[in-house]
Amino acid sequence: MAKQFWRPSNMLYPVPAVMISCADKNGRANVMTAAWAGTICSDPVMLSVSIRKERFSHHIIKETGEFVVNLTTEKLVKVTDYVGVKSGKDIDKFDLPGDLKITKSPSQIIKAPGIAESPVNLECKVKDIIELGSHDMFIAEVVNTVVDDKYLDEKGKFDLSKAGLITYSHGEYYALGKYLGKFGYSVKKRNTNTNNSKNNKTVSKKPTKTNKNKK
Ligand SMILES: Cc1cc2nc3c(=O)[nH]c(=O)nc-3n(C[C@H](O)[C@H](O)[C@H](O)COP(=O)(O)O)c2cc1C
Repeated sequence: MAKQFWRPSNMLYPVPAVMISCADKNGRANVMTAAWAGTICSDPVMLSVSIRKERFSHHIIKETGEFVVNLTTEKLVKVTDYVGVKSGKDIDKFDLPGDLKITKSPSQIIKAPGIAESPVNLECKVKDIIELGSHDMFIAEVVNTVVDDKYLDEKGKFDLSKAGLITYSHGEYYALGKYLGKFGYSVKKRNTNTNNSKNNKTVSKKPTKTNKNKK
């Protein structure tokens, strides 16, 4: 076995493939897929998405300073791909037929709509735009988190693992795989039974202070 040295690449995988929705000043909404997106700050809650200038969405987001990041699921994988290969210059992506259909969902704080079929919609306000080269990086504050209440359990806990989230790796979409552990599990005291399946959690007797899901 030997390592090969390749030219620089974007092989930082997996990444989320999200749908970015926006609306122009006349209320004409559009949606595009983005994989070059990520969390960049916890407080204030901020994320970035890098968009090429030639995307129809680019000028809308630049002009309005608003967009929504919509998480994608197995059920939404086909439309996630479709809105990532077709431009809003040519079609209305909120008026697609059959299994490609996505519906606008009104946002609370911003004018751009979210996607109703998405389990989580992050309403964002642009704070800065950095021209990097091929892409402009939109740095944005998340001003509202909208969640589908069908993923809330009877105690009000949000169970995102039930949403069927997908990820994007090296040009391909994947469903999330098996549960491997939770944040901080590596430093928790273990029971003798080391079964780590999600439905049969036995990894810890007593939670430590290090297990908070804060980064
Ligand atoms: C999986 C996937 C990921 C993509 N990621 C990005 C991205 O991060 N940034 C970008 O500018 N375009 C990305 N694209 C391409 C745009 O989504 C595509 O050009 C789309 O048609 C733009 O739509 P619009 O012209 O209506 O804005 C991606 C496409 C796919 C299928």
